[in-house]
Amino acid sequence: MQTLVITGGAGFIGSNFVRYILRKYPDYRVHVLDALTYAGNLDNLATVSGDPRFEFTHGDIRDAEIVDKVASRADAIINFAAESHVDRSILNPGAFIQTDVAGVWTLLEAARKHKHERFLHVSTDEVYGSIPEGSFKESDLLEPNSPYSASKAGGELQVRAYHKTFGLPTVVTRGSNTYGPYQYPEKLVPLFVSNLIDNQPVPVYGNGLQTRDWLYVLDHCQGIDLVFHKGAAGEIYNLGGGNERTNIEVVGLMLKYLGKPESLIRHVTDRPGHDLRYSVDNSKIEALGYQPAASFEEQFQATVQWYVDNQDWWRRVKEKPTYQDFMQTWYKERK
Ligand code: NAD
Ligand code: DAU
Repeated sequence: MQTLVITGGAGFIGSNFVRYILRKYPDYRVHVLDALTYAGNLDNLATVSGDPRFEFTHGDIRDAEIVDKVASRADAIINFAAESHVDRSILNPGAFIQTDVAGVWTLLEAARKHKHERFLHVSTDEVYGSIPEGSFKESDLLEPNSPYSASKAGGELQVRAYHKTFGLPTVVTRGSNTYGPYQYPEKLVPLFVSNLIDNQPVPVYGNGLQTRDWLYVLDHCQGIDLVFHKGAAGEIYNLGGGNERTNIEVVGLMLKYLGKPESLIRHVTDRPGHDLRYSVDNSKIEALGYQPAASFEEQFQATVQWYVDNQDWWRRVKEKPTYQDFMQTWYKERK
């Protein structure tokens, strides 16, 4: 029996990963450690909360005492916990340094002390910065451009140091823009789909020609699972969806699937430091057997439908003052 600590398991990708693991590995136990920040939501874990193999601890990854206690009863840590929204990092960079750098260090210390078999750190393709053409390989320079991506790069470099210096069996994934069920409605896809359902306008930054590589959340989970079980210690793996689309193309698909008019699109003031294009080379993870399960259009349409079918879930989130305060502050500047 393996016991995995899954930090950030009440967030978007983490909660999908918890369900994925419990379904795929009947003999695994999962212990979620999550601070339940504005992005953490126990509703995301409702379908597994009664599973005897599931345990939840409410705690912060920067709290060495609580991290030590949880880590002492586990074989490995998979770290999803992070401040994850670029726009928020522009308003409040300090929170990102605290969790995405200092928090990672606290986890690494516990993994080292308890001689864990594995430490998987979930990172992002944003650590490379923008690329006008071609695709980044894992050996390329890190040139992060937002406080979010710089913090993620800082966390990753701590992971690297703990492998080189202390021999901790670490692996890192650099995932691309992920979409799917249970994503907090501040990110492009759930924000726009939920607005469109209510016939509200959608705020496209600048001309909307920025390109992202869209990755379905269960493919992201599949990639992390592969790297966790088959990746070589000390290595980094890109994890892209292989679906590069401009933002305006993605918005066009949402309008099509929801039957809404283009007149709901508003072009607003761009995000400062906005990266134009992300693209990663997937050859290294493909060599481990990674392959997306279905086409982008199928997975994207299913995602749009999930938000149509689960309006209670996102309406409860959008009603909260923490959500509304951020939306008002950030979008007041985007005219
Ligand atoms: P999310 O914001 O939905 O969830 C983050 C979770 O971490 C929340 O449950 C939150 O409560 C928890 N958390 C935050 N700070 C914490 C702390 N100090 N201690 C304990 N828990 C804390 O994020 P997500 O989109 O699911 O992203 C998960 C991970 O994947 C992050 O590390 C992110 O950088 C990375 N990533 C995300 C994407 C994407 O497109 N969403 C793509 C690539 C990589
Ligand atoms: O690339 C991986 C990263 O993808 C992850 O590491 C991050 O955690 C995740 O948030 C995501 O970052 P982005 O900044 O790319 O995601 P976001 O959904 O915020 O924006 C996607 C694109 O849409 C980006 O070009 C900005 C644009 N956008 C976003 C919002 C919220 C808009 O045009 N309008 C908006 O209101």
